Amino acid sequence: MARAAAAAVSTRAFIFSVFLGVSQCYFAVPLKISTGSYNVSSDVGVTRRVVLTADGDGLSLASDPSGAVNFLDMVNNLQGDYGRGYYIEMSIGTPGQKVNILVDTGSSNFAVAAAPHPFITHYFDAALSGTYQSSGRTVAVRYTQGNWEGELGTDRVSIPNGPNGTATINIAAILSSEGFFLPGVNWQGILGLAYPMLARPDSSVVPFFNSLVQQLGIPDIFSLQMCGAGISASSTADPPGGSLIMGGIEPTLYQGSVWYTPIVEEWYFQVEVLKLEVGDQNLDLDCREYNMDKAIVDSGTTLLRLPVNVFNAVVEAITRSSLIQDFSSGFWDGSKLACWMKGETPWRFFPKLSIYLRATNTSQSFRITILPKLYIQPITDVDGTLDCFRFGLSSSANGLVIGATVMEGFYVVFDRAQRRLGFALSSCAVSGGEALSEVAGPFSAADVAANCSWAPPKEPFMWVISYALMAVCAVVLIMLLLLLVLPCRRNRSGEITDESSLVRHRIK
Ligand SMILES: *[C@@H]1O[C@H](CO)[C@@H](O)[C@H](O)[C@H]1NC(C)=O
Ligand SMILES: *[C@@H]1O[C@H](CO)[C@@H](O)[C@H](O)[C@H]1NC(C)=O
Ligand SMILES: *[C@@H]1O[C@H](CO)[C@@H](O)[C@H](O)[C@H]1NC(C)=O
Ligand SMILES: *[C@@H]1O[C@H](CO)[C@@H](O)[C@H](O)[C@H]1NC(C)=O
Repeated sequence: MARAAAAAVSTRAFIFSVFLGVSQCYFAVPLKISTGSYNVSSDVGVTRRVVLTADGDGLSLASDPSGAVNFLDMVNNLQGDYGRGYYIEMSIGTPGQKVNILVDTGSSNFAVAAAPHPFITHYFDAALSGTYQSSGRTVAVRYTQGNWEGELGTDRVSIPNGPNGTATINIAAILSSEGFFLPGVNWQGILGLAYPMLARPDSSVVPFFNSLVQQLGIPDIFSLQMCGAGISASSTADPPGGSLIMGGIEPTLYQGSVWYTPIVEEWYFQVEVLKLEVGDQNLDLDCREYNMDKAIVDSGTTLLRLPVNVFNAVVEAITRSSLIQDFSSGFWDGSKLACWMKGETPWRFFPKLSIYLRATNTSQSFRITILPKLYIQPITDVDGTLDCFRFGLSSSANGLVIGATVMEGFYVVFDRAQRRLGFALSSCAVSGGEALSEVAGPFSAADVAANCSWAPPKEPFMWVISYALMAVCAVVLIMLLLLLVLPCRRNRSGEITDESSLVRHRIK
C-alpha cells in the first residue's frame, strides 16, 4: 500500500497559519481573501445550531430480531464535529475507566492512550485494570504525519450508550505517539470499524466490532449519523454530536428510504462511484477515474477527497457555475479562506454536488447530493465583520474518500451482514428548515461501464512482494557486507502511508 506522498497541504498547518493574501473583491459580492493568521482557541463564531428533528415513529427494533437492543438508548451517543472527529464514551477494564474514543470507519484497530500525553486529559491505565491481559506483542502504526506505538492486549469493554453487555476486546495500548493526539481534541483513543484486513500488525487481530457481534450477539450492522453540518468547525462551543447505532438502524434518524450500494471489497468500506455531477452537469469522466485507486466511506477523514483529475474537473465546473470568475486558486487548494461581509452568505453562488453510486441492482444507480452549505464550510470570524469559509473538497493521490463533509448529510448504514452500505436523508442535516442533502434513485446505469472499481492490493500478493524484496535485500546485504559497508535494513511493517487516515485532513 505504498503511495506517493502528494504535495497535499496539511490541514493543521492550514488552520494555524492561514496565509491570506491581498484583499480582493469578486463579482458583486464583497468577497475578501483576508490577511493574517488567526488563533483557533480564541475563535468566536458558531453561526448556526442544527436541531435534531426526529419525526419517525419512535422506538424501533426493526433490525434486531431478538429485540434485545434498544436503539433509542444510543441516539446522541456521539460528540464532536467534522474538524475534531466524532467520539463515543467507553468504559475499559475492571473497574471501568471512562475514555472518549474517536469513531473511524477507515481503520481497524481499537487503540487507546495508555500513558500520559500533553494533549490529553486522561488515559487508560492498564495497571489499574484487573482484567487487562498483555499479549506481549507490540504494534506500531505510522501515518504520513504522526504515528503511535503500543502494546497489544485484551480487556473487558462496555459502551454506556451502546448495546447492553461487556465484551473482551483487542486493545492497542498506546505508549508513545507523535502527531496523533492534537491540542483541543477531547478523545483519548480510536475505534477502527473497518475490516480485519486493515488491522495492524496483521489481520489476526480481531477488530472491535467483530468481537462485539460475536460476544453480544447483536446483528452485524452499525449506522452512523454525524450532526456537525453547518457548524463552524473551529468553534469551541458544545460539539453538536451524533449517533452510532450498534446492531441496526434507528428510524427516527432518517427520512425517506435507505438506498444501498454494494461493498466492493471488505477492507476499507469500498464502494463504486459511477458518476459525478456539479449542478446538473455530468463531469463525464471515465468512471474508473472516480475510483482510482479506490473509493471509500471514511468517518475519520474530514473532507470529500477526489482523485486529482476528478478534483480539477470539479473545481473547473464549480468555477464555471458559481459565477465567481477569478476565485483565488488558494481557496480551492485549501490554503486560503474566502470571506464575505457578515450576513452575505455565499452558498447561493455555488452548485449542488452529486455522487452516483452503484445500486444493489447493478444495472441501476442512485445519487447522494450535498448542498453548498455542506462543502462551503464556515470556519470562524477573522475580524468580526467577516464570515469566512473553506472549501470542503481536496485532491487525493490515493483514491476518492467520502469523508465527514459528505457523511454529515446522511444517515449511513454499514450493513456488513449483507455487504452493503446504505444512505438515507439524515434527520439532522437541516439548516433553517431546509434539507442540506438529497438522496434520489433509481437511475439506469446502462451508460456506465459494468465495473468501475480497481482491485485492492491483496495480502498474499503483498507477501510475495515482501519476500521478493527481502530476498533482494539479502543479496544486497551480502554484497554490502562484502564491501564492508553499512548493513541493509528492512522497512518496519505496519506502516500506513495513507493520506486518507484521520491524522491528516482534520483541522484540529
Ligand atoms: C490564542 O488564544 C489563547 C486563549 O485566548 C491565548 O492564551 C493565546 O495567547 C493566543 N495565542 C496567540 C498566538 O494569539
Ligand atoms: C439495556 O437493558 C436495560 C434493562 O433491561 C434496558 O432498559 C435498556 O433499554 C437496554 N439498553 C439497550 C441499549 O439495549
Ligand atoms: C434491475 O434494473 C433493471 C433496469 O432498470 C430492471 O430491468 C430489472 O428488472 C431490475 N432487476 C430487479 C431484480 O429488480
Ligand atoms: C470489479 O473489478 C474489481 C477489480 O478488478 C474486482 O475486485 C471486483 O470484484 C469487480 N466487481 C464485479 C462486480 O465484478
